[in-house]
This record gives sequence, structure tokens and C-alpha cells, in this order.
Amino acid sequence: MNFTIELARDAADREACARMMSESDPWITLGRDFARCLTAVSDSSRELYVARTGDGVAGFILLTMKGQFPGYITSVCVAASARSSGLGTQLVAFAERRIHRESPNVFLCVSSFNPGARRLYERLGFEFVGTLKDFLVKGYDELLFRKTIGPWSTFKPQP
Ligand SMILES: CC(C)(COP(=O)(O)OP(=O)(O)OC[C@H]1O[C@@H](n2cnc3c(N)ncnc32)[C@H](O)[C@@H]1OP(=O)(O)O)[C@@H](O)C(=O)NCCC(=O)NCCS
Repeated sequence: MNFTIELARDAADREACARMMSESDPWITLGRDFARCLTAVSDSSRELYVARTGDGVAGFILLTMKGQFPGYITSVCVAASARSSGLGTQLVAFAERRIHRESPNVFLCVSSFNPGARRLYERLGFEFVGTLKDFLVKGYDELLFRKTIGPWSTFKPQP
């Protein structure tokens, strides 16, 4: 599949991402409807990157670069019809390069009922940190993962 990953440009991009999210697990199970997903991807304190093909937005990754733990992958999603052909791996690799300009750590959470995504992150070198019990909704946990290139003490940010 031919695609480019770039910052979301406009409301149409954000709406495409929110639609993709709200029609897919884990967000269905977590009760995130289109409006909540649109709020999440429109948050100006975050960075929204889309994977664009000739047909439109095929996937996206949403990053948080602020706060005590910068470099958090808030959400990643690939259109159902485009899954399992490497796009998710490319989006995470893109996010790692972006984050490592400012931080040695990449963090993300995966829902306890999403073993497919967990398998992908472990294959990409993410390490399980701990369980956030009943974090988003009661009955399901969020599993915190981290991938690091070293401690802050030796990290050199790139301009
Ligand atoms: C997780 C996801 C972003 C991966 O994107 P992708 O383009 O399918 O990923 P790749 O082709 O690079 O890698 C395939 C791996 O993704 C995982 N995967 C595939 N389909 C999946 C799905 N429906 N849900 C979760 N993970 C899935 C599997 O680990 C798969 O590896 P396998 O074939 O050995 O089982 C994508 O499947 C998706 O959008 N899933 C639904 C939303 C989601 O779970 N997001 C992650 C939230 S933490």
C-alpha cells in the first residue's frame, strides 16, 4: 500500500479519524462515540498524524508530547479494510522517530481485552510496565507499556 504519514490538515481529516475510531474496538467497548472521538482527535495539545493514501485516510496516530510523561501514544487506528498489512507498524515507527526528538521514552496503553494490539506492541519491543485497574471503564484494565532508548540523563534532544 502506498501512503504518506503527515500532520492532519483539516476538519475532514479529524472527522475521518473520529469515524474510524468510533466504529472500531476498543473504543466501542469503551463507550467512545463519534463526538467523544472527535473531541479527542481535535485536542490542540496533541499531535494528530494521518496515513494518507490515494483513497483518503487509511489510519492515524495521536500523540501527547506534553506533561510529566511526554511521548504518549494516545491512540492508533488503521481502517478495518487496511489492517494486517503493516500500516500500524509504520505508524508506530513514525511516532517513535517523532518522540525521540524530545524524549527517550515512548508510552502507550492497551486495553485488557485487546490481545491483538498487545501482541503487536510486544513484537515492536514495548515492555509491560503495569496494570491500571478499571482505568477507563469498570471491568476492564488499561495495560501500560514503555519502549525506551535509555535514561533521561544521557538523552540528547534534537533541534
Ligand atoms: C492495532 C492496529 C493499529 C494495528 O495496525 P495494522 O496495520 O493492522 O498492524 P500491522 O499490519 O502492522 O501488524 C499486524 C498486527 O496487528 C495486530 N492486529 C491485527 N488486527 C488487529 C485488530 N483488529 N485489533 C488489534 N490488533 C490487531 C496483530 O498483532 C497483528 O499481528 P498478527 O497478524 O501477527 O496477529 C490495527 O489493527 C487497529 O486499528 N486495530 C483496531 C484499533 C486498536 O486496537 N488500536 C490499538 C489501541 S491500543
